[in-house]
Amino acid sequence: VVLVVDFGAQYAQLIARRVREARVYSEVVPSTMPVAEMLAKNPKAIILSGGPSSVYADGAPSVDRALFEAGVPVFGMCYGFQLMATSLGGTVDNTGAREYGRTPLAVSKPGSTLFEGTPAEQSVWMSHGDACSAAPEGFTVTASTDVVPVAAFENDEKKLYGVQYHPEVMHSTHGQQVLEHFLYRGAGIEPNWTPGNIVEEQVAAIRAQVGDKRAICALSGGVDSAVAGALVQKAIGSQLTCVYVDHGLMRKGETEQVEKDFVAATGVQLRVVDASERFLGALAGVSDPEEKRKIIGREFIRVFEQAQLEILQEEGPEVAFLVQGTLYPDVVESGGGEGTANIKSHHNVGGLPDDIEFELVEPLRQLFKDEVRLVGSELGLPDEIVQRQPFPGPGLGIRIVGEITKERLDLLREADAIARQELTAAGLDTEIWQCPVVLLADVRSVGVQGDHRTYGHPIVLRPVSSEDAMTADWTRMPYDVLARISTRITNEVADVNRVVLDVTSKPPGTIEWE
Ligand code: XMP
Repeated sequence: VVLVVDFGAQYAQLIARRVREARVYSEVVPSTMPVAEMLAKNPKAIILSGGPSSVYADGAPSVDRALFEAGVPVFGMCYGFQLMATSLGGTVDNTGAREYGRTPLAVSKPGSTLFEGTPAEQSVWMSHGDACSAAPEGFTVTASTDVVPVAAFENDEKKLYGVQYHPEVMHSTHGQQVLEHFLYRGAGIEPNWTPGNIVEEQVAAIRAQVGDKRAICALSGGVDSAVAGALVQKAIGSQLTCVYVDHGLMRKGETEQVEKDFVAATGVQLRVVDASERFLGALAGVSDPEEKRKIIGREFIRVFEQAQLEILQEEGPEVAFLVQGTLYPDVVESGGGEGTANIKSHHNVGGLPDDIEFELVEPLRQLFKDEVRLVGSELGLPDEIVQRQPFPGPGLGIRIVGEITKERLDLLREADAIARQELTAAGLDTEIWQCPVVLLADVRSVGVQGDHRTYGHPIVLRPVSSEDAMTADWTRMPYDVLARISTRITNEVADVNRVVLDVTSKPPGTIEWE
């Protein structure tokens, strides 16, 4: 493992991803972790991330000098670079000369470990106030900028390296190459973190955890639960039962995708619970978005627990494991706790016996989303599942503004299917993060179709581009694709006489309308 020590900026996760793109496994650890604990993980290398502080600020996070003396290769970036410089006797000045954004970097020793094969002048991303003016003894200065005399230093003998800039961001044109040089040349690490190896490792870990017991997995139709289910299936085969709750709020063809394609690709035992009537009944007359979400969440748990209970009754009480598609970013954001939590089902409304405790199996806990997709493909899942865009748990339930009825759902399903078909046909699936199609069910719009006036409903298209759904911008889509979608929806979907485009970024607008 390569440890990325997080000094409190948002860069640490990105660095970890870049290390993994170099096919080397990496984990983020907080800078408050004692050095002895870091070393106990037997890291092959340690990377110190950037951070928002000045090394001279009161209470600025620091690191024990022992880290640099343990014989483990270390790479400091930005704040991490300055910490390394000050800890080892170099000079960092609080000059007040700031450097932000894209900056030309002059590489003075092109044959260096970090910079070999990269241009003598390259563009890098800077973000700092303090500047290093003298490298610690034994280090060679290998790059500088107009403002910073020491923008990179290297000590091959001690395997210590640092750069003032952020090699992990795209704007640093040779950043990935420099990072790989550190990993492969500096630290001598073999790149072998590949989807095939991840599958192999996880299969062994799942077998060791589950033994001869049984496990249950709830499939949602989304990428994470599908890949988690497929991995566990590969590990323990018929000891796994997957449960798919059809709440009737899925898009056209999605339930069939799980029932047919997923089962065909994995050979998993699947129980499909058709609960659409039950959900529609519970949602009747409700138009408040939060109320809808609560009802859908509550009913889902009830139906899922009922299915669990049936499986327990049929297969005996040794069903002890529950599979979840938790991803690495969730683990890091919730404090990075390790090991497997023993959870008790608190939403025990369906009547599970009190003494049943499920242990979690979370085979994606170490993975980023893009790795999950690669693992899914490695496991033979079809692209339609592996490359799926995000879709909210409450499904179309929160894309009908107004009360949810069967008729409205069918209408929205048709409009949504047309939009998806045309977006795929136009090759826009990768450019668009997701494109909610929304029915304004409580709005009546006037139209003219044939010879008469109609009172129909508007459909909203909400195509957005985003990296992580936290912020988003509306996608500048080609007009001809928009025109085709609009013509087809108004012609083919009864009761829709208007298609409108949402041109709001997030913030201020959210991605979904409810
Ligand atoms: P918003 O609308 O908040 O959405 O900009 C951000 C992302 O979250 C999805 N989303 C949900 N996912 N349950 C979910 O599982 C929900 O209630 C929910 N609401 C929004 C949304 O599709 C987008 O990807």
